[in-house]
Amino acid sequence: MKHLLSAADLGHDQAVAVLDVAEEMAATQAREIKKLPTLRGKTVVNLFFEDSTRTRISFETAAKRLSADVINFSPKGSSVSKGESLKDTVLTLGAMHTDGIVVRHPASGAPYQIAHSTWTDASVINAGDGTHQHPTQSLLDAMTIRRRLKGGQAGQDLSGLAVMIVGDVLHSRVARSGVDLFTALGAKVTLVAPATLLPVGVEAWPAEVFHDLDRALAEAPPDALMMLRVQRERMSSAGGGFFPSPQEYAREYGLDAPRLAALAPHALVMHPGPMNRGLEITSEAADGARSVIVEQVANGVAVRMAVLYLTLTGAKEPGA
Ligand code: NCD
Repeated sequence: MKHLLSAADLGHDQAVAVLDVAEEMAATQAREIKKLPTLRGKTVVNLFFEDSTRTRISFETAAKRLSADVINFSPKGSSVSKGESLKDTVLTLGAMHTDGIVVRHPASGAPYQIAHSTWTDASVINAGDGTHQHPTQSLLDAMTIRRRLKGGQAGQDLSGLAVMIVGDVLHSRVARSGVDLFTALGAKVTLVAPATLLPVGVEAWPAEVFHDLDRALAEAPPDALMMLRVQRERMSSAGGGFFPSPQEYAREYGLDAPRLAALAPHALVMHPGPMNRGLEITSEAADGARSVIVEQVANGVAVRMAVLYLTLTGAKEPGA
């Protein structure tokens, strides 16, 4: 594959193949020397127009483990603060013969614009665009679930598993990518949110929707329970008003001790980070025995190594 723009672009077989490569990458990360020569001589630019901790560091780590040269770009301290456009920024990168551009942007669609432009012929990897897509996040989530609940062997998908995504679906590119990828991999997906935090048209998504978390946990018990961050930075234009108060949100939609106790013994607790502890998830749940939140971060490096390898070398996924 040349680019990775959306989880929806990955069909079942291709998604399984990417996860298989990610498992191979993960195996190399258990060695004493973690660096592979795979992308030696290639240059990857991390073009992050939005704040990020784990995604940016994860892509940087992944590219470096594959021996690529990595340039981290943030608009602060660059000519973007002087008003330079996305086009001119990318043209500049193109002129420097960049091989891969990992882009995070507040505008949904920005990575598409770059990938389908004549500004650069680099591979473009979407690291989160607005409220639209975050494909590597859903791949690392799928890898975590597959490993934990299916043993992680090559060729496996998520069939027979139920994934529940709870919270601020409206603003979440993680939820959109997750619904696309998990259903492609054969999982059943349930969304739980107040009506104010669901997008228009959610009925058409391949997911069952609940407004009551306790009812959802009883009627559609999840194998993996994914809590979403309440994205307050995307709520400013409406002046809030998406829920009555943080206390009420935590009471209705937060993962607390009684809800944790209601889960099946094997069920996983997930969160893409950064967490609002005490709002969508209690520390007890986040740090408890079922939590795989730190594992998600670790798997992120392996998934991004796989995606950088497949896009930048033009390698065929096994079986493709
Ligand atoms: C997510 C994001 O930025 O979309 N975080 C991440 O990449 N790990 C989710 C979020 O910000 O809530």
